[in-house]
Amino acid sequence: MANDGKVYIIGAGPGDPELLTLKAKRIIDDADVIIYADSLVPEEIAGYAKPGAAVYGSKDMALPEIMQVTLQAVSEGKTVARIQSGDPSLYGATLEQMRILEAEGIDYEIIPGVSAAFAAAAVLKSELTVPEVSQTVIMTRAEGRVPMPEGEDLIGLARHGSTLVIFLSVTRMFRIANQLQEAGYPADTPVAVAYRVGWPDEQIIRGTLTDIAQKVRDAKITLQALIIVGKAVDPKLLDPEAGEQVAVSHLYSDEYTHLYRRAGQGDHADADRTDLYEAGGYEVQPERAVHTSTGDD
Ligand SMILES: C[S@@+](CC[C@H](N)C(=O)[O-])C[C@H]1O[C@@H](n2cnc3c(N)ncnc32)[C@H](O)[C@@H]1O
Repeated sequence: MANDGKVYIIGAGPGDPELLTLKAKRIIDDADVIIYADSLVPEEIAGYAKPGAAVYGSKDMALPEIMQVTLQAVSEGKTVARIQSGDPSLYGATLEQMRILEAEGIDYEIIPGVSAAFAAAAVLKSELTVPEVSQTVIMTRAEGRVPMPEGEDLIGLARHGSTLVIFLSVTRMFRIANQLQEAGYPADTPVAVAYRVGWPDEQIIRGTLTDIAQKVRDAKITLQALIIVGKAVDPKLLDPEAGEQVAVSHLYSDEYTHLYRRAGQGDHADADRTDLYEAGGYEVQPERAVHTSTGDD
């Protein structure tokens, strides 16, 4: 297809318009056509469209219709902002759109957004990766109409005992709570259910694997919620009295040398010392002690 237009697939974040990236906002401001997922993206974000832009809510549009509007606009040299919730790479049905754009030879770009997973962690005031508690986050969903690929059944994943972030599954809360216990999570494992994070009617429900399902049922939450499971979301971790029992990250410890800092010398003492850098990683050098920085810088 000959055209000069371009498509932007934009992650709008979980709902709060202030969580839109500056880049996303700039593209939306300038786009000729806006197609936004109006079930999970607030109207306010679509409202940034310039006067005269065509704005479509995609909630009631099937993929062929969305793509027909997109291809038509691009053939007229227009810019299309396809706005999706959270980050487009997670449960965004992005691939099927990209495949059509690829097949048509259309220029497109993806603008990342704040996933509901991270917005929920922020509201919970939780670090999902707490040293010696959990260093792994599994993002998944329970099996429903969409079958899970082999090896990804919830019980199998849960055997890792890591922090679990479960999308699209709150209607299956009873089954999930049972399966996780079957897989080895203790009954008192903390669970948080975050409903419509970043929206005015946001709700957070906390409990354990024993009582969370009933609490969610009582709150009548049946959609647009994330389930986060694991000790990392235990609110007690924030309690200074419990601080002694919580291992702290080495990243900011004065005891450890890493790429940007030699032990005892404050920030950035070694920023220019490539000998402290182990190819491809951030390993602490043996001259001091063999400990691995838990951070990514
Ligand atoms: C189609 S998926 C889209 C996920 C999105 N791409 C992301 O990164 O957050 C929709 C599911 O994401 C979760 N979700 C999306 N927005 C949410 C929000 N504001 N609060 C809680 N969960 C949300 C829910 O599990 C919902 O069923």
